[in-house]
Amino acid sequence: MRLQLMTWPAVEAYLKDSTGIIIPIGSTEQHGPNGYIGTDALCPEFLADGIAEATGALVAPTISTGMAQHHLGFPGSVTLRPSTLMAVVQDTVNSLSRHGFDRFFFLNGHGGNIATVTAAFSEIYAESSLGTAGHNRPPVRCKMQNWWDCKGVRALSKELFGDAEGGHATPSEVSLTYYAYPDHIPEAKIDPPIAPTGPIYDADDYRRRFPDGRIGSDPSLASVEAGEKLYRAAVDDIAEKYRAFLTAD
Ligand code: NI
Repeated sequence: MRLQLMTWPAVEAYLKDSTGIIIPIGSTEQHGPNGYIGTDALCPEFLADGIAEATGALVAPTISTGMAQHHLGFPGSVTLRPSTLMAVVQDTVNSLSRHGFDRFFFLNGHGGNIATVTAAFSEIYAESSLGTAGHNRPPVRCKMQNWWDCKGVRALSKELFGDAEGGHATPSEVSLTYYAYPDHIPEAKIDPPIAPTGPIYDADDYRRRFPDGRIGSDPSLASVEAGEKLYRAAVDDIAEKYRAFLTAD
């Protein structure tokens, strides 16, 4: 169920049965020559619908813009500075917790968000510990789950793509979006087949090191068929993780 398609009485009724919610979080950034700019937001959003179907979870609106300053050398990329993204995460949790939600499952699609979202969780817990959270907020728990970071998906990525998986604009994430949005698949020349690897600093440095945007990957291997397999593996694994998060002590 998508929160955006529900009425407030329906949300109130949901809260009588469950206080958990899935919040897809991603990024709007270049994904190499053949990946959609929305890849990192589209992947967790698409998976969240499947996980919701399996678990009955409610899905919050996707936080589609993340911490992506290093991608700004490429047209179409948008970033929030880390402090802004932290504020977005905190305000989202604090808004929903006011109504009784207390288990926040952030389904993440972008490695560049990890440090910032983790820091935002620390701020949220500090508000509780310091007594500044407001009397109407229940004790909250936040979890971040990277969609690619589960057993089934890792095994499948390795089997399908091996070393060509790389680190950015990976064939796995591109496949998943092709499965979700097959009508937009672009024609693109990928050269060299495997992109360079290296450290990440600022936007100009990134563009110099990684001229077509990829890091270590060969997304020409991406396919709708691979995307469907990855989708099934991810939904199975993450649905189980969501259930465990809800019932954990
Ligand atoms: Ni990505």
